[in-house]
Amino acid sequence: HDHIISAKQLSRADIEEVLDRAAEVAADPEAFADRHENALLGLLFFEPSTRTKMSFTAAAKRLGGDVVDMGTVESSSVKKGESLADTVRVVEGYADALVLRHPSEGSAQMASEFVDVPLINAGDGAGQHPTQTLLDLYTIRESAGFDDLTIGIMGDLKYGRTVHSLAHALTTVDADQHFISPESLQLPRSVRYDLHEEGATIREHTELEPVLPELDVLYVTRIQAERFPDESEYRAVAGEYQIDAETLEAARDDLTVMHPLPRVDEIAHDIDDTDYAHYFQQAHNGVPVRMALLDLVLEGQR
Ligand code: CP
Repeated sequence: HDHIISAKQLSRADIEEVLDRAAEVAADPEAFADRHENALLGLLFFEPSTRTKMSFTAAAKRLGGDVVDMGTVESSSVKKGESLADTVRVVEGYADALVLRHPSEGSAQMASEFVDVPLINAGDGAGQHPTQTLLDLYTIRESAGFDDLTIGIMGDLKYGRTVHSLAHALTTVDADQHFISPESLQLPRSVRYDLHEEGATIREHTELEPVLPELDVLYVTRIQAERFPDESEYRAVAGEYQIDAETLEAARDDLTVMHPLPRVDEIAHDIDDTDYAHYFQQAHNGVPVRMALLDLVLEGQR
């Protein structure tokens, strides 16, 4: 079965297949409206989510299916001490595919070993968030294209799962990747090592300014308070690496600014109404991209 656990498992051909299907969905959503009538998607969100959970729900419904939702940890039997392995074994009996978000890195891989239906990782701690990467790539392909792509990825590179997934996928399109962060939030050694092994072109910086004029895409991420073991460590870097309209005066006119959202204060609101801002469109792309992914995953189930 095709579990979707990590962007590392996705080849360029896999990525293009999903993005091409997503483009078909976006061009003619009605053609997909009863594609998976009666299909049920099991939602298991052990951490908060707005975009991932709601766009998967919208995607399942727009394909003619529906969702069964565990709800929050507080309202489920996880609260009584039920393990993740038992939870997924139960819920796979109610659904054709599962979507899991969990605070522990490696949890999606572990859970997938207990189920026969496809399991999709919707974020495992500081690990991976492969479906975010697919909608990020869809957005990049639409705005900047994959040819000769130079991208800056800024913010929390240590704990940022969207960054870890995206960096692997960008290697498949031979992008020049610049990583911009405080020293305490640089890429984990394991991710840097894997990227090196994959032949990625990466450079690391502590300041945006010198590299900004070269960029086709600037991917900004949130410094995530919830991932820091120590609050004082968070406070030391919170509020750094913010951009506003003035910052972008040094950028190319056709720079694409992205953010997986939610943002706190990394992107000032004076950028929202400029042509640089692609982050709301990026979030909206979650529906056709997740429809395409579900279509392919459920097709494989038949
Ligand atoms: N980008 C993203 O994963 O958002 P949510 O946490 O709201 O799902």
